[in-house]
Formats: sequence, structure tokens, C-alpha cells
Amino acid sequence: MSAPPSDLARAVVRWQRRSGRHGLPWQGTRDPYRVWLSEVMLQQTQVATVLAYYPRFVERFPDVRALAAAPPDDVLALWSGLGYYSRARHLQRCAQRVVAEHGGAFPPSAEALARLPGIGRSTAAAIAAFCFGERAAVLDGNVRRVLARVLGFEGDLAVARNERELWRLAEALLPARDVDVYTQGLMDLGATVCLARAPACHACPLAGQCVARRIGRTEAYPVKSRRVRRTRRSHALLWLSQGGRWWLTRRPEPGVWAGLWSLPEWTSAAALEALVRDWPGRGEWLPAVVHTLTHVDWTLEPLRWQLPARAPARLTRALGDGRWFTPPEALALGLPAPVRRWFEAAAAAPSGAIELVAG
Ligand code: ADE
Repeated sequence: MSAPPSDLARAVVRWQRRSGRHGLPWQGTRDPYRVWLSEVMLQQTQVATVLAYYPRFVERFPDVRALAAAPPDDVLALWSGLGYYSRARHLQRCAQRVVAEHGGAFPPSAEALARLPGIGRSTAAAIAAFCFGERAAVLDGNVRRVLARVLGFEGDLAVARNERELWRLAEALLPARDVDVYTQGLMDLGATVCLARAPACHACPLAGQCVARRIGRTEAYPVKSRRVRRTRRSHALLWLSQGGRWWLTRRPEPGVWAGLWSLPEWTSAAALEALVRDWPGRGEWLPAVVHTLTHVDWTLEPLRWQLPARAPARLTRALGDGRWFTPPEALALGLPAPVRRWFEAAAAAPSGAIELVAG
């Protein structure tokens, strides 16, 4: 280990004040509701994306009571496109707990916050540092990378003992004051300078004391043996229309897009074609899209099928639980991002022209 902790913290605080991120809609407040909401949205999601969701969300749910009392579908609808939908369900469950068990006020310590649904140790620490000035250490993916590099931390973080050790070091590095600025500084460094690939070491306030940089091995940290391999999969989706309405089903829980409304799904285009072969009406395959999940590249092939007005109702029985929605009704639901893009393009096109739905 190199420089004494206070130097590291001081450099991070100074850098954050000068070069970190300022003026974001969830900064400049100590309201735990707003900070909590932003931290949950920012888990696994970039600031640029969250900026498009956060203001709408706080406008519709201005406080924890409003969120706790909302219909779950309204919460999912405003979340739709942010991904990781279990976050949205935990979010509302957490709001309900805060109302029922804490009188509508978030408990003012990292330890108590971490006992609420959907708030892990790092998120609890971030809220406590930002709102209450508590000296609590964060260690999300970005901060883990910054600290592992600067300290030259060799332990394999797939091993719980090493992970605990890095938490301990993160706590030891905390400054006596300005812990909110320091915490934001570590997060900003990880997101904008200490990048996973091609870190911008020339712009880093810790470059002079960074072990990984000194030995020329920034890419080797953090050490983690169990890296998950990316896989591919592909599904065919049926976009069924009748009389200007679309057929949607509710996605099962748990699973990808749990609780959202989506198009019924088949494991192959051939299986879907076999189903609709004898159906009245006409259909057309739209261009496939590749939707990227954390560990999967998921190819989605939509078949747009127009049923005539008099088609028998029994046809939709093969599609499981679901119902018809008008386009405005559908667009108000919680929808997976690619489905929303198709629907928005179709709703914007005169007569819902198929050609304009591509891509
Ligand atoms: N990621 C998680 N929390 C964050 C924050 N407060 N600022 C920037 N990125 C973050």
C-alpha cells in the first residue's frame, strides 16, 4: 500500500470539487427519498440514462407516501426502459416499509437503511453519506475498480474473505469530514476517469499514488476469477393486431422483464410460424433487433400479424394470459424497451405503416 489514507481522500475531495459531476437533479438535496431514488436508479445504469427517468418519476411520485400508495403498474410504467425490473418492485416495497414502519421518514443510518428491501450495503452507505454525512464506505462496481487499482489489491474478489478485506480498506480510507464529497468523488472517478478499459490516468488525481498504474497493469485490477461468459439466445415475438388493437401478455415473475407487458414469445421463428400457418389474416417479419442484457445478447424477431375483424376469439387462447390494448393504452404500460420502440414507431406512423417500424 502506498500513500497514507488522508492524502488519498484529500485528493479525491479536491478533484470532485473541481472536476466531478455537479448540478445533477438529485444533487443539492439531502432529502433521503430523492437520494435513495437516484441511487437505486443509478445501480447498473448510467447517469445519462437516469437523467431521462428521474425527473418524470419524482414529478409523478413526489414523496415516499405517493410511491407507496401508487398502483404497481404505474411504477413499472415509469420504470420501463431502465431495466432490472426487480429494482422497481423492491423500490415500491421499500417505500411501503418506510411508511409502515418508519412513519414515512427513512431511518438515518447506513445500518438501518441496509435492512430495507432493495438497499444493499453500498447503496445504504451512499444515502447515509449524502443525506446524513455518515462516515460509511461505498463499494459499488466503479468504486471497487478505483480502490483495487490505487491500492494494487491482489485478492480475488470472487472470494468472500477478500471482498470483506476490501470493504475494511474502503472504511479505513474514509476522511473525517466531507464524506459526501469524497463518496461522490470516488463514484465520479470510477465513471469518468478510472474506466474499465483505457482509463484516463493523465486526468486522475490519484495517478501519482496508484499501484496499478505504477506497474503498468491497470487492466489486471480488480482481480476477479469467476467472470461470467456472455451467451446468446434468440426468440420470436408475435405482434398481433385486430381492429387497431394489440395483444399483450404479462411477463412471468421471476425472469427477464418480470411483471412488464410484452408480446407473446416463442423459442424459434419456425415454432411461431407453425402456430399462425392456418390463421386468417396476413403477417410480416420485421427486422430482428439484438437486445443486450447483462450476460446475454438476445435476438428478438417480431412477426407482425394482422387478424381480420371477424377472426374467431379462440385463436388468442393459444397465447396464454393476455388481452387487447389500444395503442395509447399499450404505451401507458410498463413495456420492455425494444417493444416500446416498435410501438412508438407504429403509433407515430400514418396508419401504423410496417415499413417505419424497422430498427
Ligand atoms: N452511481 C451510483 N451512485 C452514483 C452517484 N451518486 N453518482 C454517480 N454515479 C453513481
